[in-house]
Amino acid sequence: TRIFVPCDTTALAMGADTVAAELAQQARSRGAQVEIIRNGSRGLFWLEPLVEVETPDGRIGFGPVEADDVAALVDAGLFEGNAQHPLALGLVEEIPFLKNQQRLTFARAGITDPVSIEDYRALDGFSGLEKALQLDGQQIVDEIKASGLRGRGGAAFPTGIKWQTVLNAPAEQKYIVCNADEGDSGTFADRMVMECDPYMLIEGMAIAGLAVDATQGYIYLRSEYPVAHRLMNQAIERAYAAGYLGDNLMGSGKRFDLEVRLGAGAYICGEETSLLESLEGKRGLVRAKPPLPAIVGLFGKPTVVNNVLSLAAVPFIMDKGGETYASYGMGRSLGTLPMQLAGNVKRGGLIELAFGATLRQLMEDFGGGTFSGRALRAVQVGGPLGAYLPESQWDTPLDYESFAAVGAVLGHGGVVMFDDTVDMGEQARFSMEFCVVESCGKCTPCRIGSTRGVEVIDRIRANDNRDANLELLADLCDTMVDGSLCAMGGMTPFPVQSVMKHFPEDLQR
Ligand code: NAI
Ligand code: SF4
Repeated sequence: TRIFVPCDTTALAMGADTVAAELAQQARSRGAQVEIIRNGSRGLFWLEPLVEVETPDGRIGFGPVEADDVAALVDAGLFEGNAQHPLALGLVEEIPFLKNQQRLTFARAGITDPVSIEDYRALDGFSGLEKALQLDGQQIVDEIKASGLRGRGGAAFPTGIKWQTVLNAPAEQKYIVCNADEGDSGTFADRMVMECDPYMLIEGMAIAGLAVDATQGYIYLRSEYPVAHRLMNQAIERAYAAGYLGDNLMGSGKRFDLEVRLGAGAYICGEETSLLESLEGKRGLVRAKPPLPAIVGLFGKPTVVNNVLSLAAVPFIMDKGGETYASYGMGRSLGTLPMQLAGNVKRGGLIELAFGATLRQLMEDFGGGTFSGRALRAVQVGGPLGAYLPESQWDTPLDYESFAAVGAVLGHGGVVMFDDTVDMGEQARFSMEFCVVESCGKCTPCRIGSTRGVEVIDRIRANDNRDANLELLADLCDTMVDGSLCAMGGMTPFPVQSVMKHFPEDLQR
């Protein structure tokens, strides 16, 4: 029997290693023929560790499994795939949370052993690269344009146009840089790509290299992701050995080299220009744009900087065609967005859906409401710099334009839920405080403004000259939005303004 126990960070944090060890021990002591495979996560985090048993009908799930449950599960017939146990979940593919998704990017996540090239190949892996090797750069860029893919890091800039800029920039050396400095609160989709399907990112980056004529790639990875670091490096090593990286890509004679570089824990190094500074070995200070990294990027050379999710969408697009990808979604938001549901939620995890579903569907149908069972009050979408949405906005479709229309952002797809015990005044203060800590310090509105912001909010909350200070806070927010060099200072006011607008009662004491 083949038994799957995930090896990603979430499952490990929930004790997956001890569960796997206990399963192996039980198999030995009972003389059962069992093969334990360490797969990636399906992204159904509330069920981790989710143990799956292969049966002729499909994979049966059990979860969340603790080491102490294992003996009883085995007694109940786990090794035979017998689903008569309170932790039995039936066929994993039939669990509504998973079944009701449209997984294009995360199609393989949790199914395969993340570092097995055979597993990857068996599920369409490297077919996109194979196709790209038959095309010239312009044809690849045209396919990406046809897909309508927009940057999944948060800014939603059309990926095809970015690649076109780099393709058109003449240079001896160009670079592909993957932004894997996933710093937004409540987000984990990049991590899941790297821990559950790392070859997809390698393939996407190699295709990007072929598209713009770049032979060197770097993955800028946050140091807080040691498991992703290990798995990514293993996958890169195996991809080299199997000819999917290096100087003879799939026997074509074309070249692409790839390396992981670790960050040192600064949120601002997720901003593309400070990321490039950091990658060059300097302090992570934001560079003024223009020039765009597409023209003057890493070491002064034309550089594609894309988020993990943008690059991870590329193999599907090349394999199945841009039109297929574009057949998902709505308006100008095409394809799928992997949303990450976190905070006070019953069923947290990864939900990949075509653009257009509503926030309410996400939080209620998938998330099952709050973990505490109390009423949901606010939800922050798009990371610590994203607006808080009140109930009146929960029917907003998840697409870039609809969110912009209500003064919110989808960002990188992070959704953090809060119940009615939340103090929104405290949340507003936290935004400014976060900016104090994470500002790179290059420009005044952000460096000084955030500190003043904390002070003004404290005065408002202490009822000290309240009306004048509210006016001051509104002015300060405008100054930061208009005067900051990058999105750090420019977006910090968004959560604050949303609290002032939708939850003003929490700014009174
Ligand atoms: P931006 O709008 O300045 O740029 C977006 C991208 O398009 C950049 O890569 C830029 O270089 C590129 N670009 C713009 N015009 C171009 C052209 N003509 N040709 C080629 N490339 C072009 O946005 P920025 O400051 O890079 O990102 C801000 C976003 O980052 C926010 O919307 C926020 O949601 C997101 N964010 C994401 C985080 C995460 O952890 N994923 C953390 C913090 C913020
Ligand atoms: Fe640095 Fe903040 Fe200015 Fe961005 S807005 S450049 S983080 S000081």
